[in-house]
Amino acid sequence: MDRLKNKVAIVTGGASGMGKSESSRFASEGAKVVVADLNLEGGLVAQKGGAAYTAAKHGVVGYTKHLAAVYSSKGIKVNAIAPGTIQTPITEE
Ligand SMILES: NC(=O)c1ccc[n+]([C@@H]2O[C@H](COP(=O)([O-])OP(=O)(O)OC[C@H]3O[C@@H](n4cnc5c(N)ncnc54)[C@H](O)[C@@H]3O)[C@@H](O)[C@H]2O)c1
Repeated sequence: MDRLKNKVAIVTGGASGMGKSESSRFASEGAKVVVADLNLEGGLVAQKGGAAYTAAKHGVVGYTKHLAAVYSSKGIKVNAIAPGTIQTPITEE
């Protein structure tokens, strides 16, 4: 499985939940993976939803579009994933 050979993936929040799964999958497909996380122990932090959470998530959409506009000319893709509910430590709160 080398579909991502010679690609570099940067995964924020990669110590737990979806980020952890994505990091493993990208690596198994041959990508070099940069895992960034605040939790060096592996993701025991959960967050409550609410107004600030919702506002931040909408901000991510604009931030992603901004980064894509800046870096697309350099051949860098910038993606954001907006999933439905998936059972991870964040949903246990
Ligand atoms: N699980 C769901 O149902 C769901 C649904 C929609 C969106 N999301 C979003 O997907 C993302 C991942 O969710 P998850 O369910 O895998 O959560 P999770 O709690 O399992 O993992 C989140 C990880 O992000 C890390 N993190 C938090 N703040 C950080 C920061 N500033 N810099 C780097 N790392 C940081 C945490 O330490 C943790 O390891 C979150 O942004 C969440 O809001 C989750």
